[in-house]
Amino acid sequence: MPEPDISQSAKAPFKAPRHVAIIMDGNGRWAAARGLPRAEGHRRGVEALRRTIRAAGEIGIEFVTIFSFSAENWSRPVSEVRELMELLRRFIRNDLAELHQNNVRVRIIGERQSLDPEIERLLVEAEELTKNNDGLTLVVAFNYGARQEIARAAQRVAEQVAKGKLDPAAITVETIGRCLDAPDVPDPDLIIRTSGEQRLSNFLLWQAAYSELVFVPIYWPDFDRAALEAAIREYQQRERRFGGLVAKTGS
Ligand code: FPP
Repeated sequence: MPEPDISQSAKAPFKAPRHVAIIMDGNGRWAAARGLPRAEGHRRGVEALRRTIRAAGEIGIEFVTIFSFSAENWSRPVSEVRELMELLRRFIRNDLAELHQNNVRVRIIGERQSLDPEIERLLVEAEELTKNNDGLTLVVAFNYGARQEIARAAQRVAEQVAKGKLDPAAITVETIGRCLDAPDVPDPDLIIRTSGEQRLSNFLLWQAAYSELVFVPIYWPDFDRAALEAAIREYQQRERRFGGLVAKTGS
C-alpha cells in the first residue's frame, strides 16, 4: 500500500473555516440507487464520516459538528432507528480510541434524558475520555433538534429568573447563547448539506444566523476530502458582512 501523502496534508492549500457543520444527507437514496438496503447506506455513511473527520483535521478545521440523529428521526421505522443506534454504538466502540489517539475532543449536543441508558453511558464515556484533548473538536448532534435546544435554553433562563438570579429585562442574546447545549463552541462558519436538499431541517437554527450554507449535490456516502475542499472553496468566494457593510471574507 502506498504511504499517505503527508506533505499534501501538512501544507493546507488554503486557510480553513474554524467551524464546519454538516448535514449528512442521502444515505437512503445512495443505497436505493444501488438496489441495496438503507442500512448499507448508513454503514457507508459512517465510512464517509471517518474520511471527513480525518480530512478536517488535516485541513486545520477546529470544530466539526455532525447531524447524526435528529429528534425527528424517531418517526422512522423501528428497524431503521435500531440500526442507527447500533451504528452509533459501534462508532463509539470502534473509533473512540483512534479519535482519542488523534487528539480529537468529542462533544455531544441534543436531548439526553430520553435516551437508552447504554447509549447515554457511551456518550458520556466519549466526552469524558477526550475532554482534555485540544485538537479537532467533533460535536455530535444526537437526538438533536434546534427548536428543542432553544426551548431547553429558555427553560434554563426561566429557572434563573424563578430563583431571582436574573431580571427578565436583562435577558439578552448572550444570555440565551450561554444556555445552549455547547455554549463555548463558536457558531459554524460553514454549513454543508449533501444530497441536493436545500434546507436546515431544524439543525443549529440559533447558531446558523450568519453561517454560509453550501449544498452539495452528492449523497453523503460519496463525500470525501475533495468534496469538503470544494465546499470550503465555495465558502471562500462568499462575502460575509454579518449585517454590516464591510466584507469579512470567508477565510
Ligand atoms: C440521512 O440520510 C442520514 C441520517 C438520518 C443519519 C446520518 C447517520 C450517519 C451518516 C451514520 C451514523 C453516524 C454516527 C456517528 C452513528 P437519510 O437516511 O435521510 O437518506 P435519504 O434522505 O436518502 O433517505
